[in-house]
Amino acid sequence: MSISGSDVDFISDVVRRRSAIVLDRSKEYLIESRLVTLARQRGDASVEDLVRQLRAAPNGALRDEVVEAMTTNETSFFRDGHPFMALSNTILPDLLVSRGKERSLSIWCAACSSGQEPYTVAMLIQELIGADPSWRVRLVATDIDTKMLQRTKEGIYNQFEVNRGLPAPLLVRYFARHGMNYQIDSRLRAMIETRFVNLAEPMPPMPQMDIVFLRNVLIYFDVDVKRRILQGLKKVIRPDGYLFLGGAETTMNIDDAGWERQTIGRATVYRPR
Ligand SMILES: C[S@@+](CC[C@H](N)C(=O)[O-])C[C@H]1O[C@@H](n2cnc3c(N)ncnc32)[C@H](O)[C@@H]1O
Repeated sequence: MSISGSDVDFISDVVRRRSAIVLDRSKEYLIESRLVTLARQRGDASVEDLVRQLRAAPNGALRDEVVEAMTTNETSFFRDGHPFMALSNTILPDLLVSRGKERSLSIWCAACSSGQEPYTVAMLIQELIGADPSWRVRLVATDIDTKMLQRTKEGIYNQFEVNRGLPAPLLVRYFARHGMNYQIDSRLRAMIETRFVNLAEPMPPMPQMDIVFLRNVLIYFDVDVKRRILQGLKKVIRPDGYLFLGGAETTMNIDDAGWERQTIGRATVYRPR
């Protein structure tokens, strides 16, 4: 079975309008295979049947199911290593001094997927601040994919997921067996506030952030959307705050006026200009 060219164009258009994710004709195979899975899960007669329903109600609940089916949720604990070394060795210790009076930190993981990124941050904060009740840490984890937000809330990971990047001492310290899986400590789960935020839409009201993780999501957008998001972030991030992007992402040639690139250890971080 092969999806028609006009159905590919229609799906790409729906997904792009809702999420800004660009799926061109080269992604035809990905579109088709994910629609086959979705149609099967929903009990639709075929992909054509699913597309027919979407054409009849292009702004309904099915649209969001299709967008969720098209997102790539690849993630892991301590992904790429260096950003988290910079966070725990330099950035958090510096912020603990510079925010020493207000004793409050706000961190946003935009596009958090299944939660490994915000929980990596939560574990590092826990290691540094421990149970010091005088610090108020606000850790906001957002995504467009509601299934991923639910996974983040639950904090349950299988053996494969905990084997990817999570150091054994942290597994022992912060996770408990949950059937065949592992669930992260309720203290860490309570640190994280999950919210639906669609980066394709104007930035919703957010608290002023000390650090923003916006990793491995800009790659899915075109340059105008990337620029709009980076400019919107300038209003959310504090003037001495930090922005982390993914390894294949940069502000360069997109919003040079807005951001300055800085190297901390082997990590690249962006600071508002
Ligand atoms: C590859 S994952 C990145 C996860 C994590 N930041 C990391 O680097 O490991 C990309 C995430 O971006 C989310 N995403 C895609 N388009 C989005 C949008 N318009 N608004 C918010 N999140 C979006 C997807 O749902 C997915 O969970």
